[in-house]
Amino acid sequence: MSGLSESSILSGLSELGESNEPNGSGAGELSGPGGPSAGKLNGSGPSKSRSSESSVSSGLGKSGASELDGISSSGLGGSRKLRIAILFGGCSEEHAVSVKSAQEIARHIDAGKYEPVYVGITRSGAWMACERPCAGWESGNCLPAVISPDKRTHGLLLAQGGALQTLRIDAALPILHGRQGEDGTIQGLLELSGIPYAGCGVQSSAICMDKSLAYMVARGAGIATPEHWVYERGELPAAGAPATPPASAYPVFVKPARSGSSFGVTKASRSDELAPAFELARRYDAKVIVERAVSGSEVGCAVLGSGAELAVGEVDQIRLARGFFRIHQESSPETGSENAAITVPANLPARLRGRIQETAKAIYGALGCRGLARVDMFLREDGRLVFNEANTLPGFTPYSRYPRMMAAAGITLSEIIDRLIALALQARE
Ligand SMILES: Nc1ncnc2c1ncn2[C@@H]1O[C@H](COP(=O)(O)OP(=O)(O)O)[C@@H](O)[C@H]1O
Ligand SMILES: [Mg+2]
Repeated sequence: MSGLSESSILSGLSELGESNEPNGSGAGELSGPGGPSAGKLNGSGPSKSRSSESSVSSGLGKSGASELDGISSSGLGGSRKLRIAILFGGCSEEHAVSVKSAQEIARHIDAGKYEPVYVGITRSGAWMACERPCAGWESGNCLPAVISPDKRTHGLLLAQGGALQTLRIDAALPILHGRQGEDGTIQGLLELSGIPYAGCGVQSSAICMDKSLAYMVARGAGIATPEHWVYERGELPAAGAPATPPASAYPVFVKPARSGSSFGVTKASRSDELAPAFELARRYDAKVIVERAVSGSEVGCAVLGSGAELAVGEVDQIRLARGFFRIHQESSPETGSENAAITVPANLPARLRGRIQETAKAIYGALGCRGLARVDMFLREDGRLVFNEANTLPGFTPYSRYPRMMAAAGITLSEIIDRLIALALQARE
């Protein structure tokens, strides 16, 4: 929490008191040292001009501090909008993808039902409430803001003018990808906070993030996975050592065990390509996985829901002209991929598409997913399906597969957001 001194934390705590109760008394969840009349987000500190404070206020409250007054005094359970924290950015290599995903969520969240509060996490891990997600968001008007692990807050602690203020949150949408976003860490914080949140819980997020653990669980459920070798500390074994892939295994894919968007992935055709591939993978994770390449095409299925009530999108299919799928690292993915053609719905017989959807649901269930996940598989030429990975917070960019698969099934991004929030609230009941 940059910018917070110990004394400001202490003086902030003295502000929390009654306004910290759920269903706040109307004393003003956001009132700072200047008291309610000073305006809900106006602290006494000199760090920001009044104009920048009010524009942050309007960004946070959509239409300004007075609307926030109304919201905090109307209490929960009334007809007021649900206040949704949208977390984006993050410390992983997928920061930029997350910003694009969050922009798309911002465009489609129903402003008639929800009051979004955007909380960005910088690449170095600073948390800030900001007006909206966009490239360079952190240089706009921002306030240090963190999710409080204290259940009494049930929301954010915002630092302003040397004091801490609270903002109750009804539910959180973590729109974060990769390490410390999709791996159970944010989910753990949200569990502590008591704030209902969209998507998978701590355990399934952690398992799905680690390709080798996900394979273990999937295999236990009778799902085929690629043949693979795991190197816990990412050390390249000596040539010919028992743990190395045999010459017959090539080509192999060398990947960080816990990353995404194809960061650190190499296709190695010969054993002498292993060392540089390991080096690249190790930049993203100490744990490295090597897999025998599965030939065929890649297929995916978007899953939405929990327990037995699951909606699935239309299946998509990726055909590669060369190399492997790495759209998020291409220079202009918005205008199409350099090497991949994605077809949705996949040009496959309906029965096969149905089998892909059923397999995706089985994998989703085996991995303990809830809320949403995009389940990726390889479709071999002999028709067998091999599990690739489950993305528990898949991309929501305009060219991302999850929203496109759902749209093809008639489920819009606004509806996905509605369902995710409803599922998050139900999970708490
Ligand atoms: N075992 C494999 N066989 C064939 N292609 C693979 C294999 N593993 C990875 N790939 C290719 O590399 C891409 C990225 O790998 P993936 O396991 O999906 O990691 P990420 O989590 O980074 O998306 C896949 O979409 C696919 O094109
Ligand atoms: Mg992938």
